[in-house]
Amino acid sequence: MAKQRVLSGVQPTGNLHLGNYLGAIRNWVDGQNQYDNYFCVVDLHAITAPHNPATLASDTYTIAALYLACGIDLQHSTIFIQSHIPAHAELTWLFNCITPINWLEDMIQFKEKAIKQGQNVNTGLLDYPVLMAADILLYEPDKVPVGEDQKQHIELTRDIVDRFNHLFATPKEPVLKSPDALIRKDGARVMSLTDGTKKMSKSDPSEQSRINLLDTPDEIAKKIKRCKTDPIRGLTFDDPDRPEARNLLTLYMILSGKTKEEVSAECADMGWGQFKPLLTETTIQALQPIRQKYKEVMDEKGYLENILKEGREKAAEVANATLTKVKKAMGYSLPV
Ligand code: TYM
Repeated sequence: MAKQRVLSGVQPTGNLHLGNYLGAIRNWVDGQNQYDNYFCVVDLHAITAPHNPATLASDTYTIAALYLACGIDLQHSTIFIQSHIPAHAELTWLFNCITPINWLEDMIQFKEKAIKQGQNVNTGLLDYPVLMAADILLYEPDKVPVGEDQKQHIELTRDIVDRFNHLFATPKEPVLKSPDALIRKDGARVMSLTDGTKKMSKSDPSEQSRINLLDTPDEIAKKIKRCKTDPIRGLTFDDPDRPEARNLLTLYMILSGKTKEEVSAECADMGWGQFKPLLTETTIQALQPIRQKYKEVMDEKGYLENILKEGREKAAEVANATLTKVKKAMGYSLPV
């Protein structure tokens, strides 16, 4: 039987942080040999907020190299860059014409980001989830492994599938296939180091709020030393009034590979002064192989470019076949 397919992606806006790793990429890596995987760097999404043209290309390569550094294995997975495959933009246009604007205005991330962009929010920000639906549906995946914050976008993708099939297909022979979000319980929402009630985010102006995968041991130590805690002795996951304790214990649990019970028992009587060095050491140890592999990937001239070229060819074949199917269903004349 053919393996089920997985598709996911990350935006090349700044460095990858622990939230991206624990919420998404680690899960791609853990599950990859069960699936036929497609992982893209979604650089078209990266311009929905003001971006720097001088670094867009290098940021895109950095993310692709980090996929490899985190353990994406080319035997099971295809890595590619979204903008190298024009079908993403073309399918977005086709979907735009069947997606009601109010579906997009209801997206939580749109509302949050629109507040940040202020007046004259650009159309791309509103349309972002339609582009994401196109990214996904071109590859007809069964599963889309993401963090909690992307759940609503995948629900919208499913709504677009239903609407498209309703308009242009029959229940017996649907054209598009609905994917399922794959969201792990632990790590699906890693919180900021400066505020345990806010998500760790690339767009937070404070570097102190996140640990990046390429941070040096020194930077990691400094950030954990200064991270927000509370004045209570004894650490627990389960007190809703202690979001920082819950977040930092969860990070320790995942990065050390221990169970919740083991960590609860180990840290029950600890103070922060004892816990922080433990978390620091565990984080440095967990990220060290990623930094090392990243350096190896970047040092080998032409290696990444070749992988991305092969990835583009393989991904384009799948994407173009779906796009043709969609255009046919919509009644387009196809070039002969
Ligand atoms: P992006 O680039 O913001 O984040 C990439 C992945 O990291 C997850 N993530 C988190 N997980 C846990 N805790 C956090 N603090 C945290 N912050 C981010 C995200 O949920 C995501 O899985 N719209 C997407 C990119 C995208 C995409 C796609 C994803 C575009 N097309 C198609 C899947 C399939 C985004 O902005 O992710």
